[in-house]
Amino acid sequence: MSGLRVLVVGSGAREHALAWRLATEDGVARVLVAPGNPLMAPVADVRPDVRTDDFDGIVALHRAERIDLVVVGPEAPLVAGLADRLASEGVACFGPSAAAAQLEGSKAFAREICRAAVVPMAMGRAFASARGAIEYAAEIGLPLVVKADGLAGGKGVTICATLGEAERAIREALEDGRFGAAGASVVVERFLTGREASVIAICDGTTALALPAARDHKQLHEGDRGPNTGGMGAYSPLPDLADTRLQEIVGQVFEPVLAHMASRGTPFRGALFAGLILTADGPRVLEFNVRLGDPETQAILPRLPGPLAPVLLAAATGSLMGLPPISTMADSTVALTLAAAGYPTAPRTGDEIRGIDDARAARALVFGAGVARDDQGVLVTAGGRVLTVVGRGSDLAEAADAAYEAAARIDFAGKIVRRDIGRVAAELAA
Ligand code: GLY
Repeated sequence: MSGLRVLVVGSGAREHALAWRLATEDGVARVLVAPGNPLMAPVADVRPDVRTDDFDGIVALHRAERIDLVVVGPEAPLVAGLADRLASEGVACFGPSAAAAQLEGSKAFAREICRAAVVPMAMGRAFASARGAIEYAAEIGLPLVVKADGLAGGKGVTICATLGEAERAIREALEDGRFGAAGASVVVERFLTGREASVIAICDGTTALALPAARDHKQLHEGDRGPNTGGMGAYSPLPDLADTRLQEIVGQVFEPVLAHMASRGTPFRGALFAGLILTADGPRVLEFNVRLGDPETQAILPRLPGPLAPVLLAAATGSLMGLPPISTMADSTVALTLAAAGYPTAPRTGDEIRGIDDARAARALVFGAGVARDDQGVLVTAGGRVLTVVGRGSDLAEAADAAYEAAARIDFAGKIVRRDIGRVAAELAA
């Protein structure tokens, strides 16, 4: 074989970063992306007709293009069984089976696994009836968190300062069907205080290799205020969670979870993302995702000196053991989300995007997400999170300067950019 033929599934900036990275590697002959977006065309063969839920189309693409490895970006196709379907076709897939993807698909399941594997998490319990949940909320004290059990598009978590708020959140999910089937049960948890961190490990069912840690900022406004979004920016490394401490977290969180998932007959292969909170008593798991983070991936991948494809293939084929830990460059990265007017509630589409080449000339990386070409071939906004712009530097301040300078060169009507991503000294002093 002269080189790997890799198919990346997804269309956002995370998938663009993966395609960009894989396309630079000697061991990779070809990168395809389904459905992708127009900004990926210089690095990958983009197949816009094959959607992430079109499993037949993905299998047909694998057969026609003799794909060696499928890398799945988003969680929904994994929860729906894409990795199982690909396994039945004999193709290596970086991403877990539907059974293992329940770590993200059900918060109650994730709690059960953490409890059985003795992984530190917030005190809490799952409920299918409002009465039990409300009684428990009164027991554990305020503030507390009510989470819809299933995938709720990032909207299923409510932080409650009063019991009245908790009761409302519980009833909305369990009785009013606010989140549909995703809210058929809820988890009620004690609120933990501390800074959040995203730690992602590449897993092959038994072995976990940690990627450098990153921090995502989910709220729309500076100072982590305003509505939740898909992520307004991320940076890496973290001054309060040095890359050298990651091995400890692998031992506390990832290895016990992998061992327990394997013992149940549902080994986890793919990217396991632990959303942690760094409390005074040590890290606690807030949630698991079963995929790479977005926008964390855009901040993490440029910090990896070594090739990624062999690591993803080894994870997919159960052969990570014996590979060295993933090494990390000393550089820092700051990834900014450029969002559309009206984001997150009603993002406007169709605004012309200018200045991407100028931003790249400033040595930034620019990854596309909510972008499309209109009838005249003009690049326009086509979703809430439009672009990720990544600046690099010898420290976070330099990386943030580079990212903001490049982001200023990109223009579309109503562009939204948070001003404080990676401005870490101010954040840690707050
Ligand atoms: N940045 C959080 C996520 O990818 O869900």
